[in-house]
Amino acid sequence: MRYRLFYIPMTDLSFDVLRRLADGEFHSGATLARTLGVSRGTVWNAVRAIDAAGLSVYKVRGRGYRLAEPISLLDHATVAAHAGAYSQRWAIELLDAVDSTNTLLMQRAAHGAPSGTVIAAECQRDGRGRMGRPWHAGVGGALTFSALWRFDLGAGALGGLSLAAGVALIRALKKLGTDEARLKWPNDVVWRGQKLAGMLIEMQGDALGPSTVVIGIGVNVRLSNAVKSRIDQPAADLEAACGRTLDRSAVLGTVLAQLAIVLDRFAEDGFAPMREEWQRYHVHQGRSVAVKLPTGRVERGLALGVGDDGALLFQTGEAVRRLHSGEISLRGSDPAKTPRAQKARRVRSRA
Ligand code: ATP
Ligand code: BTN
Repeated sequence: MRYRLFYIPMTDLSFDVLRRLADGEFHSGATLARTLGVSRGTVWNAVRAIDAAGLSVYKVRGRGYRLAEPISLLDHATVAAHAGAYSQRWAIELLDAVDSTNTLLMQRAAHGAPSGTVIAAECQRDGRGRMGRPWHAGVGGALTFSALWRFDLGAGALGGLSLAAGVALIRALKKLGTDEARLKWPNDVVWRGQKLAGMLIEMQGDALGPSTVVIGIGVNVRLSNAVKSRIDQPAADLEAACGRTLDRSAVLGTVLAQLAIVLDRFAEDGFAPMREEWQRYHVHQGRSVAVKLPTGRVERGLALGVGDDGALLFQTGEAVRRLHSGEISLRGSDPAKTPRAQKARRVRSRA
């Protein structure tokens, strides 16, 4: 029998039960209750929360509970193995549930957390995208983490940093097995027109320095239908892009290695040495785009590329303007054909 229930928050106990169910084998309610020192009813509630978080749990009388598919939870040793020598550059904390890894790491930064602190979470209660938009992620299938880096540079010199982080992510995804991931300005990763990953960069500091940056990255490693249905634009996952199953800890280690390389280079030379590489992966390079400005006005033009400071070089008629990311959204030029419009149409026609 399968149970599908409404949202029930994952508690510490739900994660304890999930760790035992992660192998995809049957575990009896009585054994779980005994080993965890709780009642069978409490185990049942924990199972309901796991199911509500989007992981299918089967219950078979006489055998107990089993996940529909085994999952691997985040694991320090696997992250370190994939980060290789660069794992020494990071102090990694793996947590079960947080509101947002970015929010928590920004607070830690304000209290003096050192450069290289990383927080990754199995689950975010309030994952954030740009401009107050939500970031959706399912337990066991998403990689959600934030990395703190301190620069001597002033905030004014960090313009291209979010694009540099995009280069790190693309390099990592390439190492993991996809050549088709592309960058969408300022810092989305798309695969075949669908969003695969997003980045939220937040900064503290003065114009003249030093400054502190929190780089939040969300990667869909395996996207369940339940999560996909909550996203209002086409989304894809890395397993589809790579054509194989992936371990989220391996993905995290691989990304952290590339991030350390890119952040070191950025501290020395800024974004300029990575600009050409960024443009090679730019999904709209040389193409018509529609840009939604902070005023809400939409302008059409040509995306010529990016500047050394990370600005989008946007041509309208004879003029080339430099747009800075702030509150700007970019889409392919025919709004009716944008992924978001297509998805909205699909949702409307289902309703
Ligand atoms: P732009 O940066 O051009 O405004 P965007 O529409 O992707 O692009 P963002 O603020 O970058 O907006 O990202 C937040 C958006 O990402 C959400 O509004 C939602 O459409 C989408 N989203 C949320 N969760 C996921 C996810 N797991 N996978 C893919 N997309 C997601
Ligand atoms: C976007 O596409 O707008 C950015 C999405 C960023 C999501 C990541 S998940 C880890 C970190 N914590 C958050 O709350 N957001 C970022």
